[in-house]
Amino acid sequence: MITCLFGSSRNNGNSKVILDYLLYGTNHQIYNLFDTNIEKVIDNRHSDVDSIDLHQDDYSKVLKSVMGSDTIIFSTPLYWYSMSASLKLFIDRWTESLRGEQRNNFKEAMAKKKYIVMIVGGDNPIIKSKPLVEQFKYIFEFMNITDYTFLIGEGVAPSDVLKDGNVIKKVKSLNLDLRDRSKNA
Ligand SMILES: Cc1cc2nc3c(=O)[nH]c(=O)nc-3n(C[C@H](O)[C@H](O)[C@H](O)COP(=O)(O)O)c2cc1C
Repeated sequence: MITCLFGSSRNNGNSKVILDYLLYGTNHQIYNLFDTNIEKVIDNRHSDVDSIDLHQDDYSKVLKSVMGSDTIIFSTPLYWYSMSASLKLFIDRWTESLRGEQRNNFKEAMAKKKYIVMIVGGDNPIIKSKPLVEQFKYIFEFMNITDYTFLIGEGVAPSDVLKDGNVIKKVKSLNLDLRDRSKNA
């Protein structure tokens, strides 16, 4: 099972176009984070209050799907040389999930999964998404995640990314891998 955290604000944009190629024929669940209510993290690390009880939002539902999946896709446009805010909200909340025994070994479970990070930007994204790629690498290192791949596409207006032959080739090849993995699972 694949869970995709979709962080674009356009449901017909470049991120969606390459995501559709990637997920074609696979067993997957997409969460459109723009339409999903994930509240901002509350830093209660140094107090006795359990912040998990303070949220009334969709985080637990999305996390449940993530925990039940072997492959996680983070899809984000490059927004100001970073990930979209809606995806960042989800990752910020891991700080709460890392705390307490009731979190069911969150870190260990997350470390066992395969991750694909898809980034689309309009202005030389191979170079200009480097800070974001580094950011994800630090996130993965912190979480002891070692199995990850980056896909970086170029496009401004919806469907521009179809002209980026390199990323389309890589996406199609990864799609074959994902379909093989789901057949053998
Ligand atoms: C708020 C915002 C910030 C953006 N910042 C960048 C950026 O820093 N670098 C870049 O190359 N493109 C930037 N773009 C352009 C988008 O990354 C580009 O249009 C991309 O294709 C959008 O993805 P989508 O079609 O999946 O929505 C930005 C667009 C928006 C709306």
